[in-house]
Amino acid sequence: MRTNKKSLAKNFMFNFIKLSGRMLFTCLLLTQVHVLGQNKTNEKTCVECHKRTVKNNILHGPVAAECTNCHIPTGMEHPLEDVEGFSLLAEGSDLCFTCHEEEQATIASNKYIHKPVSQGECLECHEVHSSNDPKLIFSKSPDLCYFCHNEIEKSVEKSSVVHQPVKEEGGCVGCHSPHSSPEKKMLVSNPKTLCLSCHDKTLIKGDRKIANIDSLLKKSKMVHQALNKSCNSCHDPHASENEYLLSIYYPTGNYAPGTEDNYELCFGCHDTDLLLLETTEYATEFRDGDRNLHYVHINKEKGRTCNNCHSVHGSSREHLIPETVKFGNWNMPLVFKKTENGGSCKGCHEEKAYVR
Ligand code: HEC
Ligand code: HEC
Ligand code: HEC
Ligand code: HEC
Ligand code: HEC
Ligand code: HEC
Ligand code: HEC
Ligand code: HEC
Ligand code: HEC
Ligand code: HEC
Ligand code: HEC
Repeated sequence: MRTNKKSLAKNFMFNFIKLSGRMLFTCLLLTQVHVLGQNKTNEKTCVECHKRTVKNNILHGPVAAECTNCHIPTGMEHPLEDVEGFSLLAEGSDLCFTCHEEEQATIASNKYIHKPVSQGECLECHEVHSSNDPKLIFSKSPDLCYFCHNEIEKSVEKSSVVHQPVKEEGGCVGCHSPHSSPEKKMLVSNPKTLCLSCHDKTLIKGDRKIANIDSLLKKSKMVHQALNKSCNSCHDPHASENEYLLSIYYPTGNYAPGTEDNYELCFGCHDTDLLLLETTEYATEFRDGDRNLHYVHINKEKGRTCNNCHSVHGSSREHLIPETVKFGNWNMPLVFKKTENGGSCKGCHEEKAYVR
């Protein structure tokens, strides 16, 4: 029985779903008389009394075919007060899965399942009868998602930097599957691949050019190991109050007070000793004898920032040292030479060397 109904529904879909809503509606009324004899109550068709079910211009396949695909007549006269004229073929997502076997199989095969999906609440997002959206959703993301993910909406509203795809229509589902995924947080792909799928070209934001990170990493001799797993250890994928969507404040100019707090982003993984100890034999390799040169350059009121000497994603040089340093509008060349037991730089100053 079910299989027959299903293929019947599918046939109707092939024939009609691609037509415009108006055409579809007309077809529906015609077929109603022809096919759906059993769908009459007191000589009226279901939709004559239940116009609301077909009010939107895209009809769900089985609705276009036959109401009793889902509403099984109980044999009681309809409509009557206090009498249920129909029972549903199945409840919750079980009803949907009687026909959407592929979707069911995909969801079952995935490790991470969106909670409303695992709880069978398909109708939190989908209309069951008719819709203005071909995927039968109530609204496009982000609105659809904000209905439950209020916290993300709030953070987007209060943030000074909002990631472009988050604001776009359908943007949330560009990064998250609405149902399930083999990846954590229902990401559509491995997190790093996801970011690089758009950041494989120079992007434009206002009058700013945003560097092509993918090609930068491919050109780099050394890639920062912080990027190994994902980009999210430093960036918020949605919105942030810090420039560059950084999850924690981090000074990106040339100077900043050399406090531990200012470099919390880095000290989530690196030891603060590299900045705080004036002399050390172990805390850093950037030292002249035991004189800590990180301390010398950074640990003061007008300290130099990490950016002066490190390129945070990757670099063609050892130790993530860049070839040029942005100093105002000038791209100052930084000549770094590595030696067996130290190195030297020419750039901000004449060549100065350190020997451990
Ligand atoms: C003569 C008008 C009329 C016709 C024809 C009609 N209905 Fe109804 N139906 C009603 C009214 C009135 C109610 C109760 C109020 C409401 O829920 O809208 C109702 C309620 C329902 C309900 C919810 C309560 C229940 O009984 O489960 C379903 C489902 C339903 N109708 C399905 C159908 C289907 C399917 C058909 C066609 C086979 C149909 N109706 C034909 C008037 C009608
Ligand atoms: C794909 C399965 C399916 C088909 C086909 C279907 N319905 Fe429904 N219908 C449902 C489900 C599920 C609910 C319960 C919705 C809820 O709980 O929010 C429902 C609820 C209803 C209700 C009561 C609530 C309401 O929305 O007014 C009516 C009336 C109704 N359907 C009429 C119809 C009519 C008329 C048709 C054919 C034109 C139809 N349905 C076809 C699944 C279906
Ligand atoms: C009786 C069979 C049947 C049932 C039950 C059913 N569907 Fe469908 N559904 C279909 C058919 C057929 C299509 C059209 C498929 C196509 O166009 O390829 C469809 C299309 C859809 C679409 C449009 C997206 C697409 O695949 O192009 C969504 C979303 C959807 N159904 C969700 C649901 C949900 C949610 C439920 C449960 C409340 C449900 N369906 C129950 C048969 C069914
Ligand atoms: C959190 C909201 C949400 C829930 C809950 C949800 N869906 Fe969806 N579903 C969507 C969105 C959004 C799309 C469209 C995705 C896109 O455009 O890529 C979609 C697409 C679909 C499609 C079309 C798939 C395709 O490949 O085009 C089907 C079928 C479907 N959903 C069925 C279901 C079923 C069955 C359930 C319950 C088990 C369910 N959905 C629960 C949001 C949801
Ligand atoms: C009906 C409510 C509802 C809607 C609508 C909804 N979600 Fe969710 N979502 C939840 C719930 C509940 C959780 C689980 C939260 C928890 O466990 O703290 C969740 C969790 C998530 C998670 C985290 C999953 C994890 O593994 O931690 C992501 C990502 C997510 N939703 C994305 C979306 C997107 C994208 C949309 C829009 C397409 C959306 N949600 C729409 C209810 C919803
Ligand atoms: C550019 C890709 C991208 C877009 C667009 C995006 N997200 Fe996310 N989202 C992510 C990533 C990556 C994570 C995982 C963050 C982590 O693991 O720390 C995430 C995590 C989440 C979580 C889990 C909460 C948490 O902090 O762990 C929710 C809920 C969520 N996103 C909802 C949404 C909603 C709603 C939208 C649309 C308004 C959206 N996302 C748009 C990439 C994105
Ligand atoms: C260790 C922390 C960290 C990690 C991990 C990280 N970033 Fe960044 N990212 C930064 C900092 C700091 C800036 C701002 C200063 C700069 O560009 O050097 C930035 C800037 C950016 C910018 C803006 C570049 C511009 O030209 O304005 C993009 C795009 C970006 N990152 C993407 C990514 C992507 C994609 C990944 C993962 C492959 C990633 N980031 C991983 C720290 C990080
Ligand atoms: C769907 C395409 C897309 C994906 C996927 C994507 N981005 Fe972006 N990203 C953009 C665009 C477009 C911009 C520039 C416009 C803007 O953000 O306003 C941008 C800008 C950025 C910026 C610079 C923001 C600023 O104002 O300085 C950072 C940092 C960034 N993305 C990081 C990431 C990270 C991390 C991921 C992965 C979680 C990611 N992006 C995934 C499209 C994408
Ligand atoms: C998610 C963890 C993580 C974060 C956050 C992080 N790093 Fe790293 N970083 C690593 C790992 C792992 C290595 C490789 C092991 C090592 O050298 O300590 C590394 C290596 C480095 C190196 C190269 C060391 C060498 O001699 O080759 C530099 C320079 C560096 N990080 C600077 C930074 C800066 C600056 C920040 C803050 C913007 C930062 N890191 C944030 C994990 C992180
Ligand atoms: C004046 C240039 C300069 C500045 C500023 C600078 N570094 Fe370094 N850093 C170096 C050099 C050079 C090395 C490589 C030392 C070696 O191995 O010979 C290094 C090495 C490192 C290493 C590898 C471990 C170690 O200490 O040897 C880390 C991690 C690191 N830096 C993090 C940072 C962080 C975080 C900041 C900002 C708080 C920063 N650096 C600022 C020049 C600098
Ligand atoms: C942003 C400018 C700037 C950059 C880039 C820079 N330095 Fe310096 N460096 C200074 C200044 C200025 C001093 C003098 C100490 C002070 O006033 O803080 C100094 C001091 C030194 C000293 C100590 C000299 C002494 O005995 O007092 C050494 C060694 C040194 N730098 C090596 C390097 C190396 C190696 C690099 C490249 C990895 C480098 N510097 C990059 C600005 C810079």
